[in-house]
Amino acid sequence: MKKMLNVALPKGRLGEKVYDMFEKAGFECPSIKENNRKLIFENEEAGVRYFWVKPSDVAIYVERGAADVGVAGKDILLEYKPDVYELLDLDIGKCRMAVAAKKDFRDDNQRTLRVATKFTNIASQYYLSKGRDIDIIHLNGSIEIAPILDLSDVIVDIVETGTTLKENNLEVFETIVPISARLIANKTSFRFKSESIEKIVSEIAAQTEVKK
Ligand code: PRP
Repeated sequence: MKKMLNVALPKGRLGEKVYDMFEKAGFECPSIKENNRKLIFENEEAGVRYFWVKPSDVAIYVERGAADVGVAGKDILLEYKPDVYELLDLDIGKCRMAVAAKKDFRDDNQRTLRVATKFTNIASQYYLSKGRDIDIIHLNGSIEIAPILDLSDVIVDIVETGTTLKENNLEVFETIVPISARLIANKTSFRFKSESIEKIVSEIAAQTEVKK
């Protein structure tokens, strides 16, 4: 029996773009476009099985080998440092990790800075590198509310178009790091399914080259 390649796709618009890249790379699975409730799709002939997972969970599936490859944002890789190979920058899902605050915010170095974020490791590491004392406040979403209600002085969050900040009268103070989607692989799969993984890497690398 042919070895199936298990692919974890981030559910949502980004995942659909990623599927199109895999399809062009020769791993088509047309049924994936016909049903939007099912979570697992396979095409035995092409030797591929796809599953839709929450974007922030892709790296967990790949790290533990439930998926051989997947696509995760650089934000997740920096935050959780999963033990996986990062094979390729897909040049999609581009945004940045940034510090934002109310427009009138002025940093006072004498005081501990209150930082609200979903990305506590990225934020802690960033301020540690600057030697700045912070009080970290972990939130799960709607981070933009924190400075408005004076729960925090600043937020560390993802900024894509900047619309969410603007609509809430916040602005970017510093950019921490640019973010984009990355192709990742399980370390064992990379050895034992090297043929199909190498094919994906070279075909998708060629697609992103063409785009540039
Ligand atoms: C992210 C981020 C911001 C927003 C930024 O949230 O947390 O709220 O996108 O995008 P913009 O600059 O284009 O407005 P996401 O939609 O991923 O959901 P979340 O609230 O669960 O983080």
